[in-house]
Amino acid sequence: MQILRSDPETIRSRELELQRMLVVWIVTGLVFMLLPGTFLGVWNLIRISGAHTAAQLDPAWIQAHGHAQIFGWIGTFILGIGFYSLTKMGRIPEFAIWRARVSWVLWTTGVALRWATNLWQWYWRWMLPASAVLELAGCLLFLATVSRHRPGQERASEGQGGRPVWMYVVMAGSIGFLISLTANLAAAIQSAAAGVSPAISHDINQRLLVLFTWAFPVITIWGFSARWLPVFLGLPDLGGRMLLAALAVDVAGVGAAMAGWWIAAMVVFLGSAILSVAALRVFKPSVRPPKTTGVHPTFPLFVRIAYSWLLIAAAVSVCAALWDKAGGLWGSSRHALTVGFMAAMVFSIGQRVLPAFGGMHVLYSPRLMFCSLALLNTGCLLRVVSEIGAYESYLPVLWPLLPVSAVIELTAVTLFAVNLLMTFLQPPAHLAGAI
Ligand code: HEM
Repeated sequence: MQILRSDPETIRSRELELQRMLVVWIVTGLVFMLLPGTFLGVWNLIRISGAHTAAQLDPAWIQAHGHAQIFGWIGTFILGIGFYSLTKMGRIPEFAIWRARVSWVLWTTGVALRWATNLWQWYWRWMLPASAVLELAGCLLFLATVSRHRPGQERASEGQGGRPVWMYVVMAGSIGFLISLTANLAAAIQSAAAGVSPAISHDINQRLLVLFTWAFPVITIWGFSARWLPVFLGLPDLGGRMLLAALAVDVAGVGAAMAGWWIAAMVVFLGSAILSVAALRVFKPSVRPPKTTGVHPTFPLFVRIAYSWLLIAAAVSVCAALWDKAGGLWGSSRHALTVGFMAAMVFSIGQRVLPAFGGMHVLYSPRLMFCSLALLNTGCLLRVVSEIGAYESYLPVLWPLLPVSAVIELTAVTLFAVNLLMTFLQPPAHLAGAI
């Protein structure tokens, strides 16, 4: 049995190690976001715009982009922050440190292997399931480690059984993460056994995409929003029960989508998005001054815009279930969700909390933060509108705007990555004056 040493020096050195590991996870996520994720997305969109249809593009390339963004970027950030959260336990077991390292190796290898397999198809019938096994193993190691997390000193006011509501929601997001990776493994095995390429078949992939968005990152972002937005935006107290209701409705939507009841599922997701916004009080005026020290003062505005994108994404997905003919409404709703909501929330909250988590740094440039968020939203708006008009042939004159939107979004993610990398390269705030 492991004996837990808890002298202050040991605790401090383990905290520092988890801080260093957090930076490694975050930098890894940024690399996946930039090259395998966004660069490939831009490349795909330029080819689709050139051909005036998405039908000619290899679905394996599209899936490589989506997987790199959802798991390579968002998933990697979540795992890094999850391991870092152990520093709030007060007592960090030694095995947590090596598990964080092993999990990083398994996870990074799995996600990179998936991307390379989709693009180059080298022994894909073996590599596709192997990548999914590695990803699942990395996530399981993470869950086995953080499941010991206790609320400690956290505010428990709105929860049952001593845990705050945000923690239940983050735990639900972690279960969604695990289910997503398990379904991904099943789909990879099925494809390897019966498919003709590493691309997952359309019907199965549609269901996987619901898991990869509504069952995991959306829920996790709600959890982190419940944890941080009341403080950072000075919002009225969280509606805890309403947020749990939003979660329950969202789970029902996921169930409906898995059954193939698309219209019902999308209507239910719209309901869950409305409930989450009401519960988090995102559009209520602040009752305390927002905490924007170190970040751009427009930070609360961008969080509110991100939640507007969540509502738009859910509304457009109802239209997609009713009227999509060429993938334009589905693609538009997906990017309203992934870029407008998820990426914008990571840009906003990430640049607010990660500098401190990664070793008491101060954000390199609040102005770069503003530029990255302004460009991300501009690119997203252009994309969401022109994808519907162009793909669905309502307004074919919009085709040339799609590559423009892609380059604007590429600039936005590059600025975000530069800002975080420069932040971590700077000395910590308490040492900055001494140098
Ligand atoms: C520069 C920004 C981006 C560009 C240019 C881009 C481009 C594309 C393109 C062309 C597709 C093919 C389907 C379609 O035409 O809609 C696609 C699909 C997808 N994208 Fe993006 N994307 C970007 C950002 C993101 C981000 C930030 C995420 C997630 C965080 C994301 C997640 C996805 C997903 C999940 C799919 C579906 C993949 C599949 O069919 O399996 N994208 N993207």
